[in-house]
Amino acid sequence: MRLDSRYLRGNTCTAKMNLLAVVAVALCAFAPSAHCASETIAWCYHEPSCNDSTWSTIAAPYCNGTRQSPIDIVSARATENENLTDFTFKGFNNTNGLDYIKNTGKTVKVVFTEGIQISGGDLSESYDSLQFHLHWGNGTSTPGSEHTVDGKRYPMELHIVNSKSSFKRNTTLAVADSEGLAALGFLIEELPDTTDQPGSWKTLTSFLSKISFSDQNATITAGISLDDLITGVNRSSYYRYHGSLTTPTCNEAVVWTVFKEPIKVSKNLIDLFSTMLHINNTNTSPLMVNVFRGIQPPQPVSTQRSSSTKFGYSLALMGLGLLVGRY
Ligand SMILES: *[C@@H]1O[C@H](CO)[C@@H](O)[C@H](O)[C@H]1NC(C)=O
Ligand SMILES: *[C@@H]1O[C@H](CO)[C@@H](O)[C@H](O)[C@H]1NC(C)=O
Ligand SMILES: *[C@@H]1O[C@H](CO)[C@@H](O)[C@H](O)[C@H]1NC(C)=O
Ligand SMILES: *[C@@H]1O[C@H](CO)[C@@H](O)[C@H](O)[C@H]1NC(C)=O
Ligand SMILES: *[C@@H]1O[C@H](CO)[C@@H](O)[C@H](O)[C@H]1NC(C)=O
Ligand SMILES: *[C@@H]1O[C@H](CO)[C@@H](O)[C@H](O)[C@H]1NC(C)=O
Ligand SMILES: *[C@@H]1O[C@H](CO)[C@@H](O)[C@H](O)[C@H]1NC(C)=O
Ligand SMILES: *[C@@H]1O[C@H](CO)[C@@H](O)[C@H](O)[C@H]1NC(C)=O
Ligand SMILES: *[C@@H]1O[C@H](CO)[C@@H](O)[C@H](O)[C@H]1NC(C)=O
Ligand SMILES: [Zn+2]
Repeated sequence: MRLDSRYLRGNTCTAKMNLLAVVAVALCAFAPSAHCASETIAWCYHEPSCNDSTWSTIAAPYCNGTRQSPIDIVSARATENENLTDFTFKGFNNTNGLDYIKNTGKTVKVVFTEGIQISGGDLSESYDSLQFHLHWGNGTSTPGSEHTVDGKRYPMELHIVNSKSSFKRNTTLAVADSEGLAALGFLIEELPDTTDQPGSWKTLTSFLSKISFSDQNATITAGISLDDLITGVNRSSYYRYHGSLTTPTCNEAVVWTVFKEPIKVSKNLIDLFSTMLHINNTNTSPLMVNVFRGIQPPQPVSTQRSSSTKFGYSLALMGLGLLVGRY
């Protein structure tokens, strides 16, 4: 997951440009030091000199931390936690909730209008939903989700970024709090066809031709909602762990939720992401492919208590009750 906001864009630190990589201007606001050292971190996905194998060095102190994301989720090791209740999704049905779509040079980001919020799901308070963005590989032939489940990598992954409502969208405050951000991860599975399904994704991808080059944006006028995009997923069924941003500066400020069921999207639409977007402002700059971070060391993962276990517990309690009753 990546984070940048309009507040960070206004930072007065000047970013140096590197021939190989676009400098992440957003980083200044995350830097703990007054001189803002991290603004010069030039990270990338496409060159060995700045790809994720270098981040723990070029983007210390956070990218070399001990609760880094993404991880491989081992389903059999997820412990059951009765506190992982359902979420409440406010404004996810708003067809005016998606404001604009932008090529950041590192991903495609969709920024929300105000008023979208999540709560529940064992989060400590409500969180304002700010944006979603995507991670992908190189078409459906080279999958590019960030999280893997039991070693399986999916074609794409969608991240909805949410910030504690009490921080009033101040992302500097959010990344300084170990639970300042809540990320919702949706794995994307391919429908092996070329039939433009679902319609919401046909609409979303219809904007890609307007943002071929980095920094281009387009207003989303088409009346699709977040509910339309995350269609078909049982939102009561998810994994939970504590991790980090998956791009420099990798702040360990994220409560992660990864939903078990994938969104199903036609292969022809998935392939558009790796064929239509450039990492810079020229046709000769590379296409945006393999925009995901590799797997980080494991973290404890929890999941809802399954109904069969609840049933098992009640049977055990009944048994205990019988025993107690007898003696
Ligand atoms: C992007 O293009 C600009 C000039 O058009 C250049 O200065 C910069 O180095 C390029 N960045 C990358 C990542 O190629
Ligand atoms: C990143 O660079 C390392 C070598 O430094 C290379 O082994 C790895 O394949 C590269 N990853 C990508 C995604 O290019
Ligand atoms: C990460 O790097 C920073 C700065 O080099 C260092 O102070 C810190 O101890 C490192 N953290 C870990 C977990 O190695
Ligand atoms: C569930 O929440 C209660 C109350 O906050 C807490 O005491 C308990 O440890 C939590 N359970 C788990 C499995 O985290
Ligand atoms: C969205 O859902 C809320 C709560 O269920 C409902 O009150 C509201 O009318 C719905 N809005 C739209 C645009 O459907
Ligand atoms: C992505 O896939 C295309 C078509 O299969 C191929 O030509 C290209 O070299 C691949 N790019 C990378 C970076 O692997
Ligand atoms: C965010 O909070 C920090 C720390 O309190 C403050 O310095 C900064 O001005 C705030 N940013 C905005 C845009 O309000
Ligand atoms: C969108 O693009 C326009 C035209 O280049 C630019 O003026 C505007 O600042 C951009 N908006 C955002 C939010 O990036
Ligand atoms: C959604 O998942 C929950 C938790 O696993 C389960 O109890 C529920 O039956 C599922 N709902 C549907 C419609 O499958
Ligand atoms: Zn992400």
